[in-house]
Amino acid sequence: MGIKFISPLILLSLSFAFFHCSLATHPSTLERGSSLSVEQHEEDVLTSPDRAFSCGFRKVGTNAYCFSIWFTNSEEDAVVWTANRDAPVNGRGSRVSLRRDGKLALTDVDGSTVWDTNTSYAGVSTAELLDTGNLVLKDRDGHVLWQSFDSPTDTLVPWQPLTKGKRLVSPIAKGARRSGYYTLYFDNDNVLRLMYDGPEISSIYWPNPDSTLYQNGRSNYNSTRIAFLDEKGNFHSSDGFKALASDLGVGIRRRLTMDYDGNLRLYSLNESTGTWSITWEALSQICNVHGLCGRNGICEYYPGIRCSCPPGYEMSDPADWNSGCKPKFNLSCSNHTQQQLHFIELQETDYYGFDMSTYSTMISFEACRNACIQSCDCRAFGYRLAGNGLCFPKSSLFNGYKSPNFPGSIFLKVPISVVSSSSSNQSVVTCNSDGSTVTTSSSLRYGNNRSNTKWVYLYGFAASLGAAEFLFIFAGWWCIFRGRDTTKSVEEGYRMISRQFRRFTYRDLREATGKFKEELGRGSSGAVYRGVLDDKRVLAVKKLTDVMEGEEEFWAEVSVIGRINHMNLVRMWGFCSEGQHRLLVYEYVENQSLDKYLFGRADSGSSLGWNQRFKIALGTARGLAYLHHECLEWVIHCDVKPENILLDRDFEPKIADFGLAKLSKRDGPGFNISRMRGTTGYMAPEWALSFPITAKVDVYSYGVVLLEILKGSRVSDWVEADGTEKSLRSLVAELKEQLGGSDESWVRDVVDHRLRGQFNHEQATAMVKIAVSCLEEDRSRRLTMNEIVKLLIACGEKDADRI
Ligand SMILES: *[C@@H]1O[C@H](CO)[C@@H](O)[C@H](O)[C@H]1NC(C)=O
Ligand SMILES: *[C@@H]1O[C@H](CO)[C@@H](O)[C@H](O)[C@H]1NC(C)=O
Ligand SMILES: *[C@@H]1O[C@H](CO)[C@@H](O)[C@H](O)[C@H]1NC(C)=O
Ligand SMILES: *[C@@H]1O[C@H](CO)[C@@H](O)[C@H](O)[C@H]1NC(C)=O
Ligand SMILES: *[C@@H]1O[C@H](CO)[C@@H](O)[C@H](O)[C@H]1NC(C)=O
Ligand SMILES: *[C@@H]1O[C@H](CO)[C@@H](O)[C@H](O)[C@H]1NC(C)=O
Repeated sequence: MGIKFISPLILLSLSFAFFHCSLATHPSTLERGSSLSVEQHEEDVLTSPDRAFSCGFRKVGTNAYCFSIWFTNSEEDAVVWTANRDAPVNGRGSRVSLRRDGKLALTDVDGSTVWDTNTSYAGVSTAELLDTGNLVLKDRDGHVLWQSFDSPTDTLVPWQPLTKGKRLVSPIAKGARRSGYYTLYFDNDNVLRLMYDGPEISSIYWPNPDSTLYQNGRSNYNSTRIAFLDEKGNFHSSDGFKALASDLGVGIRRRLTMDYDGNLRLYSLNESTGTWSITWEALSQICNVHGLCGRNGICEYYPGIRCSCPPGYEMSDPADWNSGCKPKFNLSCSNHTQQQLHFIELQETDYYGFDMSTYSTMISFEACRNACIQSCDCRAFGYRLAGNGLCFPKSSLFNGYKSPNFPGSIFLKVPISVVSSSSSNQSVVTCNSDGSTVTTSSSLRYGNNRSNTKWVYLYGFAASLGAAEFLFIFAGWWCIFRGRDTTKSVEEGYRMISRQFRRFTYRDLREATGKFKEELGRGSSGAVYRGVLDDKRVLAVKKLTDVMEGEEEFWAEVSVIGRINHMNLVRMWGFCSEGQHRLLVYEYVENQSLDKYLFGRADSGSSLGWNQRFKIALGTARGLAYLHHECLEWVIHCDVKPENILLDRDFEPKIADFGLAKLSKRDGPGFNISRMRGTTGYMAPEWALSFPITAKVDVYSYGVVLLEILKGSRVSDWVEADGTEKSLRSLVAELKEQLGGSDESWVRDVVDHRLRGQFNHEQATAMVKIAVSCLEEDRSRRLTMNEIVKLLIACGEKDADRI
């Protein structure tokens, strides 16, 4: 009786389980003589015993399938291995069988074998997907006769070795499976490298080809040639290369993938959401990847990459940047006379490689130009002044990139007719509103012939050589070449080429500042002096005092600031390093620092109006947001305070003093700073605790500054109307309470009385709200700078006309 009652329930729950948890019933082995069928690709799946990996058919296009292994628990398509990436099979009749002859074989609809394991050993008994993500063929005794680990596709999983003769090959486009042009492999000299191996050229771009092996931290004596990722997130290579995941530790699923954009990235899986985050990447500047924009194309970091064609050129294939740009003109040799040729200067731009044999140093700009005119094969020349003329005539234009501080220009050879017609119309690919996408296309055998795929470039910067190396290298040229005599025309070339960034001699700066006469200010790292250059440009020279410490800060500043260009950040023009002297040269910002206005005497006529205050709050937030999120997302300022916010002629704020800035990883565990940095009164509570420091320390300091902009006095000596002093903590608690209440008259008490009530109530309330969030003790509850900018813009626009 009991059984009769229960059995329908069991049946019901069994069928429920069957329909809803069918994955759980997947086996991990395939017996000899059995097969997986493409029609049943949902059910015919092997799953590793711990369910982390699955193996079977994956759809790659309309009616096109590949036999793959993937992470079961991933939202995105995280395939770690594919048998037939370049030859997908039909969605009908295709199957993978463990045949009686001992081969695991993939057959297409017509019965043809598209791929097999080439195992002839008849003793093969089962195919098994292991917990590591390795698909193995075993004999009856459990010996492994073949394994998928031996033929990697574009991904390594922990403990899968990359060895001699093996390579990871990128897919052709994001979301595509087909082989692309980027390769990770061991070169003949035992060094692990990244190479662009395209239809027209091959070019190695990692490790940095401009540096020696030693400078790149590699060696070539160990001929073992093995690289692998361990379970903690360490990637080791026998050439001495090591990389660490930013979330180093066991228990996290990871993969190292040769991405479609030529970067090698380490990813960690968030098991609860099925999403992946980048925890390391080989190149922090994506334009250092070669071949991205094809022949003649120029890569620029925007943020996110964008490709463009130089003037007089157009895209060869409007749907595909890989094929680059073609000239809109014909340049025959007979036209190579001075009169018919013209050179278009592309500033801060270079094409890597393809230098002609006439490469030389100590050459004037004119000589370089003439050399290019006279050579029929010369397409353009690069000219740099590293205290000396460097001439780079180019026979082909590949691997073009534009970078704000590249100390040279490319001069493109074009017929004179081009100059007049193509003023500034470059065929620049328009980016999406986030500025991060470029459109390209890919095609698949059975798929829609041209399925557009977005190339999304994450603007992640990881801790690696790339970021700073470029600066160090060209700073190196200056060190080597400075001091030698330069000819007149070389000097002219210099003036033409060097814009914002150069090396100054100590004598230059001593003269410019009138022997350091006019001191503008003094910070923890040194005093700042006003100076004027020969060309009448006014500059601010920061003289670093403590040389031992200065050395470190010096390089920190040079490598960080030199690359930064944003209207709300003080621009660095150059530096000087001579003997004991370490100086940094900045643009001069007319109106001094914010503290002078906020905390000046109460009757000071120069006190700031409301709109100026709001503009300063927004501009400062923009500058910090840029540092934290946009271009170099690992930069933390660490010393945000009114003294470091300079005001230009229009009272637009510019954040100064990045001496304390350090590079950090976005979602990583933060970084440890050996000594406390920052200024009392503006420092987040985590400085005192031994928490890792994140960008949220700047958010905290910004909150203090925001209150000070509102109040017009130091928050640390906040005095109430009744004369009582308040600690910051009790102030924040009180503001929080008032924000929750219905009475809004308190805002008037918070805002600087010097404004005499002339302020925008809504904006002031929004600023208090933001400040209160910034000053949360728990940093995870603080807003990010991006969110702050959005909030300020929202209330700024709405009320633009009021007050
Ligand atoms: C398959 O194995 C045979 C014999 O071991 C070998 O000669 C042949 O080159 C292999 N084919 C492939 C594609 O590896
Ligand atoms: C070469 O590299 C391998 C793998 O990293 C290591 O086990 C071995 O000890 C190295 N050999 C030498 C001579 O350093
Ligand atoms: C996974 O993502 C969720 C939601 O975004 C987040 O709360 C959680 O902290 C993440 N887990 C890890 C380990 O990062
Ligand atoms: C360049 O020359 C080729 C053949 O000589 C011709 O087909 C092409 O139209 C010319 N292009 C231009 C822009 O004059
Ligand atoms: C090149 O020179 C030839 C003859 O000198 C002339 O006919 C032709 O138009 C010139 N081409 C260009 C692009 O200037
Ligand atoms: C430049 O581009 C604009 C818009 O794309 C177009 O209207 C204009 O005619 C172009 N000018 C030249 C010289 O090609």
